[in-house]
Amino acid sequence: MPRILITGCSSGFGQAIAARFLNEGWEVVATMRTPSADGLPASDRLHLLPLDVTQPESIAAAVAAAGPLDALVNNAGVGMLNALEGSAMENARELFETNFLGAMAMTQAVMPAMRMQRSGVIVNVSSSVTLRPLPALSIYSASKAALNAFTKSFALEAAEFGVRACLVLPGSAPETAFGRNAVARMGMTVPDAYAPFVQAYFETLQAATETTQASDVANAVWRAVTDADAPIMQPAGADAEAWFRDAERATV
Ligand SMILES: NC(=O)c1ccc[n+]([C@@H]2O[C@H](COP(=O)([O-])OP(=O)(O)OC[C@H]3O[C@@H](n4cnc5c(N)ncnc54)[C@H](OP(=O)(O)O)[C@@H]3O)[C@@H](O)[C@H]2O)c1
Repeated sequence: MPRILITGCSSGFGQAIAARFLNEGWEVVATMRTPSADGLPASDRLHLLPLDVTQPESIAAAVAAAGPLDALVNNAGVGMLNALEGSAMENARELFETNFLGAMAMTQAVMPAMRMQRSGVIVNVSSSVTLRPLPALSIYSASKAALNAFTKSFALEAAEFGVRACLVLPGSAPETAFGRNAVARMGMTVPDAYAPFVQAYFETLQAATETTQASDVANAVWRAVTDADAPIMQPAGADAEAWFRDAERATV
């Protein structure tokens, strides 16, 4: 039975990805900072492990306990919506530790075994915000752009050993608790000078008609893991697909 480890399974996309792989018969190591099976399908192929991707000891313990893996999905992430002037550097560092360095450290931790077995897939969950510049998202976008650059470069060295690395770029998914979790963890004290501008932008975000569902992300991750010919970068969701086509047209 193939085996996958997914980070950030306490909610949102992580839960949907875990459910998809369980439904397809995989052994699923669902990791989260505080383990709980809430929101995950009951299965004897579901294994819960504690994992904080910013803590080296936590990473080492989770990877050792998980056993041999066929796939890793770096999904754990946190958002931040604010003007740069309203963002604390301490929060920016925490965001990079989670979204970028956490995924990098997890990749480094699983790579020795994948290299030795000469197989494996690493999927990094990025974001469609890397496809066009957006206001009030400079720090978050930078963390995901770093993840994109890392993944594309790392994929070249991993391929030497039969290991694939790829990216899934979800669009905006109002159904997940991402925005709420981001505000709870990163705050959203917008400086007065930027308040009307950020509010207007926030309203355009909320009025968007094309959005992403968690199932779009689970489908894209499924394809990335199981289709050896999957593109290195896949948009997930109607909005992300439209932005991806625009970005491709702009580079031709
Ligand atoms: N929702 C969107 O609109 C959207 C769009 C594009 C990309 N994304 C990306 O998609 C991914 C999942 O987002 P989501 O929408 O599912 O949001 P979510 O519901 O807030 O889920 C984020 C997950 O990451 C986990 N996490 C946060 N910090 C962690 C850490 N230090 N160590 C381990 N786990 C940690 C959270 O666990 P805790 O319960 O422990 O906090 C939670 O399980 C993120 O990488 C996000 O950047 C989201």
